Amino acid sequence: MRTIAVVNQKGGCGKTTVSINLASALADMGHKTLLVDMDPQSHCAVGLAVPEDQIEQSIYDVLISTSRNEPIRLTEVLWQISDRLELAPASIDLSAFEQQMAGIPERECCLKNVLAQVLSEYDYAIVDCPPAVGLLTFNALRAATDAIVPVETGYFALHGLSKQLETLSILCKRCNRQVDVRVLASMYDIRTKMAREILAELRNHFADKMFKTIVNFNTKLKEAASLGQPIAEYDPVSRGQMDFHALAEEVIGSRPKEQRHEIVKSLAGQLEAISTTADQLLKSAKIPKTEGPPIQEIKAPKAEEPQKTETPQKTETDIKLSDYYGVSQINDAVVFVTLYPRAKDVQIAGDFNNWQPEKTPLHKVGTSGVWQTKLKVPAGKYRYRLVVDGHWQQDPYNENAELNPFGGFNSIVDVK
Ligand SMILES: Nc1ncnc2c1ncn2[C@@H]1O[C@H](COP(=O)(O)OP(=O)(O)OP(=O)(O)O)[C@@H](O)[C@H]1O
Ligand SMILES: [Mg+2]
Repeated sequence: MRTIAVVNQKGGCGKTTVSINLASALADMGHKTLLVDMDPQSHCAVGLAVPEDQIEQSIYDVLISTSRNEPIRLTEVLWQISDRLELAPASIDLSAFEQQMAGIPERECCLKNVLAQVLSEYDYAIVDCPPAVGLLTFNALRAATDAIVPVETGYFALHGLSKQLETLSILCKRCNRQVDVRVLASMYDIRTKMAREILAELRNHFADKMFKTIVNFNTKLKEAASLGQPIAEYDPVSRGQMDFHALAEEVIGSRPKEQRHEIVKSLAGQLEAISTTADQLLKSAKIPKTEGPPIQEIKAPKAEEPQKTETPQKTETDIKLSDYYGVSQINDAVVFVTLYPRAKDVQIAGDFNNWQPEKTPLHKVGTSGVWQTKLKVPAGKYRYRLVVDGHWQQDPYNENAELNPFGGFNSIVDVK
């Protein structure tokens, strides 16, 4: 069983939304999944229409029972949500957990010990953490094999990121466990320039510590939660559903069994590295402290080796990231520039090449993670998608897009 803690002490960054919908997507893909709510706010129950007044026993009772002589089994508190998804709900009592466990040895290992009883019964356990760094979050990290840190793609989220990760890192040093931790861009609003620039910077700095999948801002996710449904049930063709399907695929694919031993690193070390880059990121980005005024001074990454394809002119390296990435027309050619530091292969499929990606590969620019290509096409409106290591996706730096017949989005470029 893989145990994935969804953690960030910042409130409202999307932890519960990620927990519920990732768990639901994994279950829909055939994996037996357990969702554990470690937040006294009990939002997982709310988001899955489990009536709070009927929760007689919660994960609190199971955790606390480990320190008493009347053990309660996890299976006694579970609610079945769908064929392969079960919820261990939280309750307000959890807010007293830290106080009640004070002085009890091994109090950080309660969840780990509880989950150890069901290791062979589930493929995944997703643990939703409270917006605080305390004994509950520590229990989650202690039990985890992986951690997902959702980060809102807004300036203020970025500003707090370094502090958040630093605290987590201190906590994890005590934990001394080997966990794979990754940042997930959440609530991404492609229409705002701020979000696009921050995504570019996050990708550039965090590289392989970041999920390729982005969770877009999608009001359907909010509606689904308020009606107590996972997005897959509420609106199976929504953008939100596509994002969580892709996230689940990436999670499943991220650690093929045979490679596990190579990937495992210390969580504390990784968080420290991420936190340092978050600081550098803030310094280098020179992003204004308020949303609103346009960003003037973000430099596009430098090309480090001679470029094989024709590229945007040199002066363009000083322009804003939002103008640099995506698609633009330069004279009679269309230039595609994108950022995928971890990709091995980036191609474009579109009307102009009969949707055959192998005909239009992008070329890697040095080691910066930037990929680009230039095409000459007659004037007209073209639809395209990026194909990154075989995964078809919308161009994240082009806000001009339309729904395609397959339920995905095609990016659009108008060549004059
Ligand atoms: N991708 C998204 N698109 C639109 N709304 C979202 C998205 N993700 C989360 N939300 C909404 O933002 C609000 C906060 O999200 P959520 O409850 O998942 O955050 P959280 O980190 O769990 O918060 P807390 O720290 O309080 O537990 C909710 O109303 C949720 O529906
Ligand atoms: Mg929450």
